[in-house]
Amino acid sequence: MERTLIIIKPDGVQRSLVGEVIARFERRGLRIAGLKLMHISRALAEEHYAEHKGKPFYEGTVRYMTSAPVVVMVLEGPNAIQAARQTMGKTHPLEAAPGTIRGDFGLDIARNLVHGSDKPETAEREIALYFKPEELVSYQRVTDAWLSE
Ligand code: TYD
Ligand code: MG
Repeated sequence: MERTLIIIKPDGVQRSLVGEVIARFERRGLRIAGLKLMHISRALAEEHYAEHKGKPFYEGTVRYMTSAPVVVMVLEGPNAIQAARQTMGKTHPLEAAPGTIRGDFGLDIARNLVHGSDKPETAEREIALYFKPEELVSYQRVTDAWLSE
């Protein structure tokens, strides 16, 4: 069992795609362990994207991520990190396959609708940035037994 941090970015919320995006992850079989609407502060965005500091797109990304509310969630399931990134599609929407979130709804790399953690260490770090431990809920669904052995 693995957990990943997903963010529906400001463009996803503004374009009324919150339900659509959550539905895709849900249908994939991933279980929601935490979910909230929030407006990311400049300090939090800088910490989140620290690995990209100094790159040409860094400032634009921080401004975009803090420009309007986002929906953040923790999803869990077997190989949740890889499964979620596959459902999201490649970073540039023009390289993302049709059928993925970015491939179906995006055009521009700087407006690519969703964030998903890229590896287990990143997921742990990012989940701690956005959620207190008591905000995450552990439970089973009756369908979980039909999603993996
Ligand atoms: P990155 O971590 O490379 O992509 P991903 O979100 O798929 O893990 O980059 C973080 C975000 O920065 C990316 O989602 C969109 C933005 N970005 C740009 O605006 N331009 C770029 O050239 C790159 C590489 C990223
Ligand atoms: Mg990344």
